Amino acid sequence: MSSSHAADESLWERVRDAYPRQQPLLNLNNAAVSPPPLVVEQAMIDAYRLISQNPDVNMWSKLDAALPSIKQQLAELADCSPEEIALNRNASEGLSTAIFGIPLTAGDQVLISAWDYPSVRAAWGQRQQREGIEVVSVDFALTASDEEIVESYEAGMTPKTRVLQLTHMFHWNGRVLPVKRICEVARAKGIITIVDGAQCFAQMPVSFRDLDCDYFVTSLHKWLGAPVGNGMLIVRASRIDSTWPLLAPFDPPPLRIDKFDHWNLGTYNSAIQAGIAPAIRFHRELGTANIHARLRELTRYWIDQVRDLPGFQLYTPVDTDNLGAVSLFSIENLDAKTIEQALRQTHAVHVKFRQVRHVAGLRVSPHIYMLKRDLDVFVNALRQVVRQS
Ligand SMILES: Cc1ncc(COP(=O)(O)O)c(C=O)c1O
Repeated sequence: MSSSHAADESLWERVRDAYPRQQPLLNLNNAAVSPPPLVVEQAMIDAYRLISQNPDVNMWSKLDAALPSIKQQLAELADCSPEEIALNRNASEGLSTAIFGIPLTAGDQVLISAWDYPSVRAAWGQRQQREGIEVVSVDFALTASDEEIVESYEAGMTPKTRVLQLTHMFHWNGRVLPVKRICEVARAKGIITIVDGAQCFAQMPVSFRDLDCDYFVTSLHKWLGAPVGNGMLIVRASRIDSTWPLLAPFDPPPLRIDKFDHWNLGTYNSAIQAGIAPAIRFHRELGTANIHARLRELTRYWIDQVRDLPGFQLYTPVDTDNLGAVSLFSIENLDAKTIEQALRQTHAVHVKFRQVRHVAGLRVSPHIYMLKRDLDVFVNALRQVVRQS
């Protein structure tokens, strides 16, 4: 498949057939969690049944024997070493592992942004309250260029900055930040970098090596389509020793990356992880670049059709190769929550209200199992809602 297939509906019709039917709602909130392809769902069900037959042996001896191979495949996708990967439940867990695990002392500064994911900001806020570190927030305009954003982060770095927290793609409007360039500036100053890649991973090509950050965190149940409850934390090899695990480890305490996963997370559901390898196979058959091109195509498609609506306002840059499946809009003088409700109750269309600071709107996030005719349903519904308001 080549990127020129992004607009080929017949090809994507076949992809749609490989997914569970979405009903009763048209699901335009895949940025929260995506349905797994049917093969992934089936692999998880089979694994769960296997567990029920002899839980201890079938989970920890049989299913978990596949973990090294799963990590190897993820490492190829993320461009890192399998020895740098910990598997956990979600991005929030990986982020907290990094945030609470980096040794800091009172007076150390951590640089975050005013637009970051709420629980990331809250986690750093906890460390500030409990340990006396100083959390400094970078601010920049929504319309800022990549250049201006890099400058804002650089201006926020001081000799006391020990950690830089970055979001690769914002959860609320899908804007992609120039994280590689910002990490480069931080690295030159000896600052540790954490990249929240929850939205980027598997939505667009991402390379841990190329980003050159210290921690990269993502969930696998958004754009990779692994079963709900899968996350991945990548820790640069040289940082593993100095990072505390979030949960105290088992006995004997493991020294390497597995202090962040496996036994050390307590009992977890191995059937959920059994869905990761089939999800990677499905994803690879399509190819990350093709998936990204298709998601961009879908986003531009619906936006082009509603641009002319009176008061339509978009908070996502569309004229960029970084555009993916996540975008945010509002309609001037219409309450976004009221539109959200009308779309859902009258038209069975599910989009998500999102607000960060003063920016409030509706997040629209299609996935590869959707077709342009699904987006036509959304567009027509939105037109009607706006007309009748
Ligand atoms: C940017 C970002 N970070 C972190 C998270 C948390 O991910 P999870 O729900 O997998 O914990 C999300 C979820 O939407 C997100 O968009």
